[in-house]
Amino acid sequence: MARARVLILWNQLDDDVVELWRRDGRRSPDWDPNLIVEPWDTVAEEIEQIVECVREAGYDAKAVNIRDNFETLMDTVRSERADVVMNLIEWFHDDLEHETHVPAMFELLNQSYTGNRPLALSLCQKKPQAKSLLAAAGLPVPRGLLVDLKMGRAPDDLALNYPLIVKPAFDDASGGIDAGSVVRDRASLDKRVELVVGAHKMPALIEEFIEGREIHCAILGNSPPTPLPLYEMRFKPNGVDNEGRPLPNIITYRAKWDPYSRDYYAMESKCPVDDLGDDLSARIQAVAVRAYLALGCRDYARVDMRLDAQGNPYILEVNPNPDLADGCAFAQCVRASGRTYAQAIQEIVGYALDRARNKPQREPAPSENLLREYVAQRSGGRSTR
Ligand SMILES: Nc1ncnc2c1ncn2[C@@H]1O[C@H](COP(=O)(O)OP(=O)(O)O)[C@@H](O)[C@H]1O
Ligand SMILES: [Mg+2]
Repeated sequence: MARARVLILWNQLDDDVVELWRRDGRRSPDWDPNLIVEPWDTVAEEIEQIVECVREAGYDAKAVNIRDNFETLMDTVRSERADVVMNLIEWFHDDLEHETHVPAMFELLNQSYTGNRPLALSLCQKKPQAKSLLAAAGLPVPRGLLVDLKMGRAPDDLALNYPLIVKPAFDDASGGIDAGSVVRDRASLDKRVELVVGAHKMPALIEEFIEGREIHCAILGNSPPTPLPLYEMRFKPNGVDNEGRPLPNIITYRAKWDPYSRDYYAMESKCPVDDLGDDLSARIQAVAVRAYLALGCRDYARVDMRLDAQGNPYILEVNPNPDLADGCAFAQCVRASGRTYAQAIQEIVGYALDRARNKPQREPAPSENLLREYVAQRSGGRSTR
């Protein structure tokens, strides 16, 4: 059999910020010249590592940065005729919503690809919609309320308990989350909602703030989906941000993306989490898998949760396109499961390869047969579409 061909697609237009830091020769944040910032990989280097992992499995692998260009995307998929596209595209034309439309194109082209399908990507990107589905499936989500652009502010009879967190309803990667996101009274709530709705022109999701531990569960596979060992983000006490504001125990945007920020040093990750006990860990993993299924996820995803004081998990969100780069949370969970990083990448490619090789012959549904009969009768037996 010919070697399978894997096309790895990613999207980056601007200079990589890591590349810029390197060029600047910056090693320490302004606020502490003694602190040495550990070097990060550029996205291009992370992708090259994934290419190596795929080659290690004996496949032909090629990575293409589509550089935010639809023609490049289309031409590459058409000309490469790969068995599998590994879809690492998270946005398009500076629009997170277009993340969904990229695999929609693969669907129409009958191109097998890794990861989540359009509906799951779309639902998870819309936090209020995802929450409704999770709640309808009987899963625990923080109590909350959506303030859309028309409402502009939270209703006076807001039946939620402080502290609350205010998040942009349709963002991800902690976009719009900073030290001011957690509010403890009505005045701060109104101010924060005004910032999200008024200044950023984005509906705001207000949620009860779940004070306890932050636990993430990475999930791999389909039949059945396998929860990987849990990952925890631990918050150091008395953290402040670069402006000197006290940091609540949350993962802010800077904490995720700016290794020169104080936010970044105010937390540390732990994987696996070894002090939850087997029963609670299993319960949390079961909730995560049910969330994955409720939102129709495929191949891999990461479920972000918080525990309340009694250890009950609440789902914050499901990430259907989490960063797979080595060093990120997903890769840490993979290693904790006993897999190598390469094995996990190969498993993910393997799911899409299986789909490419065993394309199910689609049986018409009973209603389609009825419709055909009906159309045939109406058209006097002539064949119609
Ligand atoms: N209801 C909540 N209770 C406690 N912390 C929350 C809550 N919602 C969000 N957070 C904090 O904010 C971070 C980002 O929120 P999340 O819903 O995961 O959105 P995203 O990661 O897509 O920006 C979380 O990792 C968590 O630290
Ligand atoms: Mg999150």
